[in-house]
Amino acid sequence: AVSMAAMLPGTALAQKKIVLGFSQVGAESEWRTANTESIKSAAKDAGIELKFSDAQQKQENQIKAIRAFIAQKVDVIAFSPVVASGWDTVLKEAKAAKIPVVLTDRAVDSKDTSLYVTFMGSDFTEEGRKAGRWLVEKMKDTKGDVNIVELQGTVGSAPAIDRKKGFEEVIKADPRFKIIRSQTGDFTRAKGKEVMEAFLKAEGKKINVLYAHNDDMAIGAIQAIEEAGLKPAKDITIISIDAVKGAFEAMIAGKLNVSVECSPLLGPQLMTAVKDIMAGKPVQKRIVTEEGIFPMEVAAKEFPKRKY
Ligand code: AHR
Repeated sequence: AVSMAAMLPGTALAQKKIVLGFSQVGAESEWRTANTESIKSAAKDAGIELKFSDAQQKQENQIKAIRAFIAQKVDVIAFSPVVASGWDTVLKEAKAAKIPVVLTDRAVDSKDTSLYVTFMGSDFTEEGRKAGRWLVEKMKDTKGDVNIVELQGTVGSAPAIDRKKGFEEVIKADPRFKIIRSQTGDFTRAKGKEVMEAFLKAEGKKINVLYAHNDDMAIGAIQAIEEAGLKPAKDITIISIDAVKGAFEAMIAGKLNVSVECSPLLGPQLMTAVKDIMAGKPVQKRIVTEEGIFPMEVAAKEFPKRKY
């Protein structure tokens, strides 16, 4: 049989759409929803055919999706790995099938970096440091211990590991800063609230600071703090990460002290990288997102400029 491609004129062949398989973590947070939206709209704008798969925060689903993309012979595979380890086998399968892989948002801990072309996304350790530096500055004129409770992201995920590390790196310079409780809230509002309730039950008014690895958990925790009869951002200083619109609303309402920016708008740079890979152009091994930090004092002014 004569293939469709053979029947098409040369120009039509040249216009063959690039097919990108993307495996997303899930829809656990406001950040993730904005990230998905950015990827879908950027693919559309770039004329790239996107096969999108939602893993519902399960690594096994991501591995299945990647295997399906390999079987479908997509041109490029991109994914945001829910956790950092356990990817070598499936990445080797993609390499054997000669399908280039792009990591977006989260890194893998594979020793063999030839298993992916590039990793684009935030420097999570630096985000943790920014949170720590802000707190040290805020508390510099106070006396006595600073008791911190920490809501960690998904266990084993790069942002949970690195945000913890960066924050601890900064606060350890002063022994007054103590993390008295630290537990995962899985990056969701519901778990953030639930774990904060447990922290409050166990430590009560001893808690001076909440450090949440994302805004959603902080927003859930704010509810728990209010229900416990305390004033968020006053009785307990609250620091979180992402700088999504929900965090700005909380800051404007005086309930969140600061949010460190983590941009989910990775779609356009992903599509550029995909096109470059397909054109055989060199692509940087690490593409770092540039980000700021927003204390509550600037929230109202910055809010209209926010894109996510
Ligand atoms: O990997 C980025 C993190 O994942 C965001 O900070 C969090 O909100 C999301 O779920």
